[in-house]
Amino acid sequence: MQTINQLDSLRDSICKLKERAGTLALVPTMGALHDGHMELVRRAKDIAEAVAVSIFVNPKQFGVGEDLDAYPRPLAKDQAMLQAAGVDLLWAPPPAQVYPAGFSTSVHMTGLSDDFCGAARPGHFDGVALVVAKLFNQVRPSHAFFGEKDFQQLAVIRRMAADLDFDVEIIGVPTMRDTDGLALSSRNAYLSVEQRAAATALPNAIKAAAAGIRGGGDVPCFWPMRGTA
Ligand code: PAF
Repeated sequence: MQTINQLDSLRDSICKLKERAGTLALVPTMGALHDGHMELVRRAKDIAEAVAVSIFVNPKQFGVGEDLDAYPRPLAKDQAMLQAAGVDLLWAPPPAQVYPAGFSTSVHMTGLSDDFCGAARPGHFDGVALVVAKLFNQVRPSHAFFGEKDFQQLAVIRRMAADLDFDVEIIGVPTMRDTDGLALSSRNAYLSVEQRAAATALPNAIKAAAAGIRGGGDVPCFWPMRGTA
């Protein structure tokens, strides 16, 4: 596996990769990889002839006071996991390769990004849409893989890719869960034992709702939509 952190080298390597592979999958990540990410890689390998993974902790999707500086960055461990999984190329740029001095373009999405997580994190999905658009232009994949765990993010990315005419198939991959039901997430590392136990209320509620729906019951409403509270 090649690890690349300069855009010029990335362009050369992508050209060479595309000469030998008809399909190239991209798995965009922010690193601190866990089995949820590795499931994306496995699905990518099933479908595409070559697989590239990006690791970039995107400053544009973090709000003021969020965990940009604290976000875990275990690059050597991540590289070893990707190498063992048979990934062809790792794109791990420093921030200046993605947002060089003078960078002043934005991607702004309305509608899909307004509620749920978007309401609590203003600007977050614009930052996600911007970096994913850039990654698509840099890597030029035929397929791109995202977890259904971040379901609103997946919807935003599908919309952005359609609206901006990216010729890439977006594939959503079902959520991987830990034994206590929590969705695997790099940020679970922040939880205390008590917080982790409290967080299991979420998968338990989802399971109960799914069982209720399967049984033909009403869909319970767990949180209000914007404007209805
Ligand atoms: O889901 C993530 O890890 C990030 O939001 C993504 C899609 C890699 C964009 O930075």
